Amino acid sequence: MRIIVTGGAGFIGSHIADAYAEAGHDVTILDDLSSGKLENLPAGTRFERVDVRSEEAARVIKEVRPEVISHHAAQMNVRVSVDDPRLDADINVLGFLNVLEAAHAAGTKRVLFASSGGTVYGEPEQLPCPESYPTHPVCPYGVSKLAGEHYLYYYAAVRGMRYVALRYANVYGPRQDPHGEAGVIAIFAQRLLRDEPVTIFGDGKQTRDYVFVRDVVRANVACLDAEFTGGVNIGTGQETDVVELFERINALVGRSGAAQHAAARDGEVRRSALRVSLAESVLGWKPSVSLDDGLAATIDFFRSRS
Ligand SMILES: NC(=O)c1ccc[n+]([C@@H]2O[C@H](COP(=O)([O-])OP(=O)(O)OC[C@H]3O[C@@H](n4cnc5c(N)ncnc54)[C@H](O)[C@@H]3O)[C@@H](O)[C@H]2O)c1
Repeated sequence: MRIIVTGGAGFIGSHIADAYAEAGHDVTILDDLSSGKLENLPAGTRFERVDVRSEEAARVIKEVRPEVISHHAAQMNVRVSVDDPRLDADINVLGFLNVLEAAHAAGTKRVLFASSGGTVYGEPEQLPCPESYPTHPVCPYGVSKLAGEHYLYYYAAVRGMRYVALRYANVYGPRQDPHGEAGVIAIFAQRLLRDEPVTIFGDGKQTRDYVFVRDVVRANVACLDAEFTGGVNIGTGQETDVVELFERINALVGRSGAAQHAAARDGEVRRSALRVSLAESVLGWKPSVSLDDGLAATIDFFRSRS
């Protein structure tokens, strides 16, 4: 299959591109390298350094005529979206529309979209949260991801595209950026391996659903020939709080230090976990990597780089 992966030099996109290339697909990666890295690109793939908002990106899509577009390029930082909602919408909404219009012109029949189960439901009262729960995001990033899903619905209903909007929980694993504000596991792992202080914001009792990147890749592979069109949660259904995460990583790294606490950051949801039974019925997918195994693999990666 001819597949374009946008954001394929980034954390999740590069693992997906790896799997597609290994399975023998013809993979082209579009990425502006704003946070992605050349070293993440799998061998044997074509790479175009373009911004998804640009005419150049549209030109590449029309030239490649991919059967599938996996859209992972995004401004993915919630705090940036709060500080600069226009920038977030420019990349995540208008950039995606540019890709969708070019995909339609190129005859692309299937789009796989990295949505966000951690933000599109806002602050859900039902945990783990099912796809049927109302979507009322409380940050601009969640709004832009939900807008992407609405555009996909339109392209499916009116223009005959198929799509899967993969509503990821908190994805973690090798290659995640340990310098940003997202990716708490990468940040903790790298800092503890370097014996640097770790900061927990608030009381550390806020929970998230942490899903290992290898499981996320398996879901993206399953989507290539799924009949399903719509939004689907990709997570584990398990809640883990930050203090527990810190203690587990501490133990795996072999440290015994304490974390510093700092004031809670506003705008953060208190609890988050996704129900994943729909993914099992429509994609035949369920998570397979335990948190401890995923953490160990992530720590090994950061250890090998230090
Ligand atoms: N990491 C998570 O837990 C998580 C959770 C839910 C959804 N997502 C979504 O998954 C996708 C991948 O996230 P990630 O964690 O791998 O982040 P990442 O920053 O590593 O990957 C994003 C990639 O997109 C590229 N990019 C950004 N803006 C671009 C633009 N305008 N044009 C072209 N390329 C551009 C970056 O260079 C980077 O390689 C994003 O869409 C993100 O919103 C991630």
